[in-house]
Amino acid sequence: MKKGEKGVLIGIAAFVLVAMVVKGWMVSQEKEEDPGIPFYSTASSELASKASVLYRKYNCRDCHMLWGLRNIMQAVPAPSLDGMGSLRDEEWLYNYFSAKDPQSIIPSRLKQRFQMPSFADIPEADRRMLASYIASLKVEDWYLEETKKTAYEKLTGKEYPQ
Ligand code: HEC
Repeated sequence: MKKGEKGVLIGIAAFVLVAMVVKGWMVSQEKEEDPGIPFYSTASSELASKASVLYRKYNCRDCHMLWGLRNIMQAVPAPSLDGMGSLRDEEWLYNYFSAKDPQSIIPSRLKQRFQMPSFADIPEADRRMLASYIASLKVEDWYLEETKKTAYEKLTGKEYPQ
């Protein structure tokens, strides 16, 4: 092998090595930068569509955020419902919606007109369907702590104890 050829081969080998390292780094960066949206629902499409009719009918969206959306005309500092089914179970939700005084279950730090209203007087089937749907709103494990923290801080106005 001539001296010049050896130099070219070393040059190519070095280039390939650098390219592999850079590519590997870019792939690992992509994974860290875009882990995806952590919220999903386990509801059937039938439950989801029926529940969203109730969700609108009872004005939940005047105060709550769901799928990152809220009625911005009436923004109230109520907790987001994204991932709520990983924080509360269906039974708890049904009892909360059925309570005459929801603030006896979760004390409120807000003025009365912004507080969670009682849905004790709506049909039981509607309360059950809402509980079942909200319980289906889950969050991926990697975002669970963050979701708990946000919910806690919304409810209490205090910093989440680490
Ligand atoms: C007038 C505003 C308002 C409306 C309308 C409303 N909520 Fe709420 N909701 C709140 C507030 C504020 C809280 C936090 C507790 C409090 O301050 O009373 C809350 C709490 C909750 C919680 C418990 C959150 C947690 O962190 O555990 C759930 C679940 C919930 N609401 C679901 C609903 C559903 C479903 C509807 C519609 C049927 C609805 N809300 C309608 C304001 C509202």
